[in-house]
Amino acid sequence: MSGRSTSRSLAGIVVAAGKGLRAGQPMPKQFALFRGKPVVRHSVEALLASGASPVIVVIPENAEEIAGAALNGLAGDIRLVAGGATRQDSVRAGLEALSRHSPDFVMIHDAARPLLRAGVIERLCSALEQHPAAIPVLPVVDSLAHAEGSMMGAPARRDALRRVQTPQAFHFGSIMKAHQEWTGPTDAGDDAQVAQAAGLTVALVEGDEALHKLTYSSDFPTEAPAIRVGTGYD
Ligand code: CTP
Ligand code: MG
Repeated sequence: MSGRSTSRSLAGIVVAAGKGLRAGQPMPKQFALFRGKPVVRHSVEALLASGASPVIVVIPENAEEIAGAALNGLAGDIRLVAGGATRQDSVRAGLEALSRHSPDFVMIHDAARPLLRAGVIERLCSALEQHPAAIPVLPVVDSLAHAEGSMMGAPARRDALRRVQTPQAFHFGSIMKAHQEWTGPTDAGDDAQVAQAAGLTVALVEGDEALHKLTYSSDFPTEAPAIRVGTGYD
């Protein structure tokens, strides 16, 4: 049962193929335990609950066993595909896996942002009724300054700036084409930048502080690791 108020078909791509080097966990951070579940499981559950189908989970090479354990028992159409060297390569692998489904809308989400709530998904889907792309953003609360080495340079205005989160939401055909046309570096910042470079307008919707990206070891509580399946991560 979809929690969305649209009849459009929606698919999800959860990119979970990184190494999580900065997080310093005994396994890639997307498989570590966070609030009682493997990190990646949280957002896959949220996307399924919003009616996304299929949900493509892009994982490291040879990580089927640990990913399968992390997602074990979830009801829904979940597919695992192997990612690439950069986040963008992993997104492309996810888009290609969706090409034969050709959903109306796709949400591209970082596994490292586990606390995905229904309100963000609803705001994004509603923006996609009017625009080919939509992203969740938050205001900048700290003041900003350029750095010149270890000294303060010019102050920067924060009122026109936003912090950009995921999921980033797109008309499927538009973002597929934008990635195919992209000629910039393959470690481009995010999918919204790829979309904008292809001429798509990108709507801003209200993000959610809960979508904070788990990045450093301090983002993880000191719990025992979630899964031990002898994949070499422990
Ligand atoms: N990601 C991916 N494929 C890559 C690199 C990153 O799917 N080649 C995913 C990560 O798994 C994560 C998201 O992209 O869910 C955001 O990346 P980041 O937070 O930088 O994660 P990692 O690259 O894994 O972490 P680090 O940079 O600390 O190594
Ligand atoms: Mg990274």
